Amino acid sequence: MTLPIAVLVSGTGSNLQALIDHIEDGTLPARITAVVANKPEAYGLTRARKHGLAAVGLPHAAFPDRAAYDAALLAAVRDSGAEAVVLAGFMRLLGPEFVAAYRGRILNIHPALLPSFPGLHGQGAAADYGVTIAGATVHFVDEIMDNGPIVIQAAVPARPDDDAKSLGERIMTLEHRIYPQAVNWLATGRLTIHGRKTRLAPADTPLADIGDVMPCLVNPPLEAGF
Ligand code: GRF
Repeated sequence: MTLPIAVLVSGTGSNLQALIDHIEDGTLPARITAVVANKPEAYGLTRARKHGLAAVGLPHAAFPDRAAYDAALLAAVRDSGAEAVVLAGFMRLLGPEFVAAYRGRILNIHPALLPSFPGLHGQGAAADYGVTIAGATVHFVDEIMDNGPIVIQAAVPARPDDDAKSLGERIMTLEHRIYPQAVNWLATGRLTIHGRKTRLAPADTPLADIGDVMPCLVNPPLEAGF
């Protein structure tokens, strides 16, 4: 069984690439039905085309209001046959109708340890604040920005001389590992939502070695292949 997913992007799409790589190497039982971008020039669309995936540019500026855009986005996702939605750097808040249509089946990745530093520029905000531990969060999406139940978080050290770029690069390395892992858990039906919390059903999979990345904490632990 593979889960049909739509991936929504606005930019580079490096997290999209990580998902594609895991699908292609057989560690992620999902199928990308469409990559949709609100910016037609998003490099994520180019990545999609390179891998023979449906790439849809849906510029929000072409729609009269947020509701109209949301309806078109929902139609594009539904028509692709997606049963779940993965936001990979999609810089727009999904409207209530979209969230209702895919509730419990939309994931987002945010480059900070939520609930700290939600919104844009989480990495820079964390660096400027002077935190010593930063990281990334994968969470279910609800109507509030960067708010839904947390699936997995990864922590990385932050240093006094870090800026948005240096800290962001360190975080990104972990993003590319935790996002495919989280989507794997969704695709294999191991995630359930209980109020604000997500439970992960156990599996007999050995844990991954993350010593090659950097000193960090990833919880729940990564499994082999991620
Ligand atoms: C990532 O930092 C992600 O956490 C945030 O947007 C960025 C997308 O990067 N939501 P990319 O397009 O996947 O390279």
